Amino acid sequence: MLHTLLEKQLRAAVTDVLPDADTTSVLVRPCPDPKFGDYQTNALMSVAKARKMNPRQLATDVVAKLDASQWCDKVEIAGAGFLNFRLKTDAITQTLQAAFRGEHLFFAKTATPRTIVIDFSSPNVAKPMHVGHIRSTGIGDALQRVLRLLGHHVVTDNHIGDWGTQFGKLLLGWKQSLDKAALERDAIAELERLYKVINAECDANPARLEEAKQELVKLQAGDADNLAIWKEMIRLSQVQFDTIYGRLGVKFDHTLGESYYNPWLGNVVNDLLQRGIAKESEGAVGVFSDGSMPPKEDPFLVNRDGEWVADPALVRKSDGGFNYMTTDLATIEYRLKTWSPNEIIYVVDDRQAPHFRKLFLTFGRWQPDAAKRVKLRHVGFGKILGDDGKPFKTRSGDTVKLGDLLDEAVERALKVVSEKNPDLSEAQQREIARVVGIGAVKYADLLPNRQSDYVFSWDKMLAMNGNTAPYLQYAYARIRSIFRKADEAGDWRAAMSSIQLNAPEEIGMARHLLNFGLALEAVGDECRPNFLCNYLYELAGYFATFYEACPVLKAEGTERATRLLLCELTARVLKQGLEALGIEVLEQM
Ligand code: ARG
Repeated sequence: MLHTLLEKQLRAAVTDVLPDADTTSVLVRPCPDPKFGDYQTNALMSVAKARKMNPRQLATDVVAKLDASQWCDKVEIAGAGFLNFRLKTDAITQTLQAAFRGEHLFFAKTATPRTIVIDFSSPNVAKPMHVGHIRSTGIGDALQRVLRLLGHHVVTDNHIGDWGTQFGKLLLGWKQSLDKAALERDAIAELERLYKVINAECDANPARLEEAKQELVKLQAGDADNLAIWKEMIRLSQVQFDTIYGRLGVKFDHTLGESYYNPWLGNVVNDLLQRGIAKESEGAVGVFSDGSMPPKEDPFLVNRDGEWVADPALVRKSDGGFNYMTTDLATIEYRLKTWSPNEIIYVVDDRQAPHFRKLFLTFGRWQPDAAKRVKLRHVGFGKILGDDGKPFKTRSGDTVKLGDLLDEAVERALKVVSEKNPDLSEAQQREIARVVGIGAVKYADLLPNRQSDYVFSWDKMLAMNGNTAPYLQYAYARIRSIFRKADEAGDWRAAMSSIQLNAPEEIGMARHLLNFGLALEAVGDECRPNFLCNYLYELAGYFATFYEACPVLKAEGTERATRLLLCELTARVLKQGLEALGIEVLEQM
């Protein structure tokens, strides 16, 4: 890609001037203001600062050594030592033509592929997936798609919650109050009902609670009946998960639930105890602060009434059961052994941030050498809110089931589609509504900065104008319709070798296409799919401006070819970009 080529050349020039300089932070990025050029670097200023050099002098020396004439008109030194690059139109044209021939789509696979495990979605068994699950599922899926596109080796693992104290109550409910017909109709609703019934009974009656505990103990001891029921509950839940994942187009390489790690939990705790990392306290076992950081930053401490008190990472309960933390420690060990990842990414609600800080620190203390080889990263996200600013609920105050939400999205999209395209067959309308409705929900969730809460709004996400999936899908479909007409007029492909960018709108469009790879890389580096949403929205904006100013089909000769090329490449980038977000496109809308 052009900016990478410039970067390489610039690094070589810096090395020429300063043979021992570390050039890894010498980056070439788009100019925020096209007035100054297409790309710029501010890296020379920090290189100069570190060596107490005059930055403008360094810039002058580097430019003298820099050979970028193949791609740039002239390299300008600006301000305190910025370099601005203005691309030659020829260089842009050649890049577009190479893209048209399918040699690239404005991004390159990484030269340093990493193995990255992504832990995402991870719902709990015997519960319906709710609206909140769109967050981890959508963000995690977008990240895995982008990272794979960039050439990384990605392993996705759905760490479902299939173990824990809730199974005591569920087993008791299953044995005593199961409604078989209801289970057939809607297994998850029936499991939810059973849990609620028994939970209420347990609250009111300690003897009931004791019964539930006994069921759990039997399950943990490997009782055949309880194991069989538990497995059936997992199977039924998996059917529900798979239905939702199918609708969302999400797949996992592995689904290793919490229970998978049971055989190792005892050893984890013993090992932590033996190494003096965990200690017993009031019958339980936990990992405590090692005093290595100021209390304010120490996740193993909490402030109570002005005093710092221990907030340990519990790894064994006083009844001998293990904790969420214990499983997560065993899981890291397993993943390192099995896949040797460079990185493990956890796409989980920000409310679990303290858990992950404790987890990563504990693992570092437990297995310092292994911890050095892997980057553990919590990719957190905020809440979905209703109009009232409180967590999004149904009108009656219940949590919104994800399946219901997707149904409603498709229904609402269908209304719009059938009004707009009454001539299409019902099957066609339904297919468009499916792609638009699901796309709208996913996109609306990916668009905000992931850590901020956002307000759920049907009208906003389904709008045909604005930063929405339907707007981008429509932009794509509109370009495809240009090509249906172009195809009728004959073979346009042959003319692609003789193109010429002239109008400023053509050049603006072309330049923005060149930056697709930078957007993908930014998503991968910072685990922020919203960068790609914004890039695509801007792309559609550039396209609208270009299309308005530059007639395509009415143009002739080189002009027509140039404009068709821009249309074609915009369509390809829109499609690839939306697919990288897990959003489908339609040829016709
Ligand atoms: N099942 C958990 C929950 O619903 C999320 C698991 C996230 N992954 C992990 N390795 N802890 O809260």
